Amino acid sequence: IIKMADLDLAGLRVLIRADLNVPVKDGKVTSDARIRASLPTIKLALAAGAKVMVTSHLGRPTEGEFAQEFSLEPVVNYLKEALENNVVLATDYLDGLALNAGELVVLENVRFNKGEKKNEEGLSKAYAALCDVFVMDAFGTAHRAQASTHGVGTFAPVACAGPLLSAELEALGKAMDKPARPMLAIVGGSKVSTKLTVLDSLSTIADQLVVGGGIANTFIAAQGHNVGKSLCEHDLVDTAKALMAKCEIPVATDVLVASEFSETAEATLKAASEVGDADMIFDLGPESANKLAEMIKEAKTIIWNGPVGVFEFANFSQGTEIIGRAIAESEAFSIAGGGDTLAAIDQFGLTDGISYISTGGGAFLEFVEGKVLPAVAMLEERAKNG
Ligand code: 3PG
Repeated sequence: IIKMADLDLAGLRVLIRADLNVPVKDGKVTSDARIRASLPTIKLALAAGAKVMVTSHLGRPTEGEFAQEFSLEPVVNYLKEALENNVVLATDYLDGLALNAGELVVLENVRFNKGEKKNEEGLSKAYAALCDVFVMDAFGTAHRAQASTHGVGTFAPVACAGPLLSAELEALGKAMDKPARPMLAIVGGSKVSTKLTVLDSLSTIADQLVVGGGIANTFIAAQGHNVGKSLCEHDLVDTAKALMAKCEIPVATDVLVASEFSETAEATLKAASEVGDADMIFDLGPESANKLAEMIKEAKTIIWNGPVGVFEFANFSQGTEIIGRAIAESEAFSIAGGGDTLAAIDQFGLTDGISYISTGGGAFLEFVEGKVLPAVAMLEERAKNG
């Protein structure tokens, strides 16, 4: 793969595809992690004297239609402050843009353009015509073969990987190819069904697989225990058993339950074998969390995707905090990814202890599953064939 750092960008029109798909509330960015991760790339291109254009999607608007709630305007306002630069938001750019060296233009949400998600050739060529160099830096969207992530790269005069994409691929590659062992993976989330492929692949790669959240309830049920009214996929109990036959999957021995899903619900500690019909499991109990923390201490590689309890509620945040702290304090090479995981890391102030925090959600999972990311495959193809 050609790297942006290896190119001389002075005076060139550079189109950077970033993943600036950040949460926005009342016109303000509420979590800036992805923008912060993209800033060094943008600064580097500006410092090199390039004419810089940045593209991204935001949310999932109806394709081909402008909608203010999905506008990149809040991101542009953020960039203006962060870069102390007069950043311009371009809404009409497909027929060409005039810009000067050292200038930064953000192109409005690519999903407002028809053909974006279908990777249409016409739109891909229109993006490509805007630039001399296309920089793919959106690791978080690298699993999408869309016009602004993939098609554009096949038609641009030069296509290369930006520093963030390169760093993500390097860090995740280090964790997944020949990992230092034991390798422990944590997969939390609400449903087994939505994480089945990643559970399946991690069960063959990891030495221990820790399941958390709603996913864990299906494994508790697989032990023959009652899970009451907890989130649980009873039809996947056999699947859970099959995964347990392939890999060490520790199942909680104690849990925190409540009778309603609410911030003020009182937590009751119960043995996993004594959950009642009206109970809902919202967190690990301290015995289970501390046992996992011990396991984490022994690990040499840790992959973390998903909280183990309802960490947003103070009464059910302990399990995720104990595990998160154990990861942050461990000597292992640790990688974390996914929106909820990043929110938990922020909430408990664990950022400094994690070896690498990925900006990818779906892309992170697909990488861990061993899938080829189309935008990366495109860059490899371009590096081979020019
Ligand atoms: C993400 O948030 O995972 C990426 O930005 C991709 O977004 P998408 O799932 O809407 O394609």
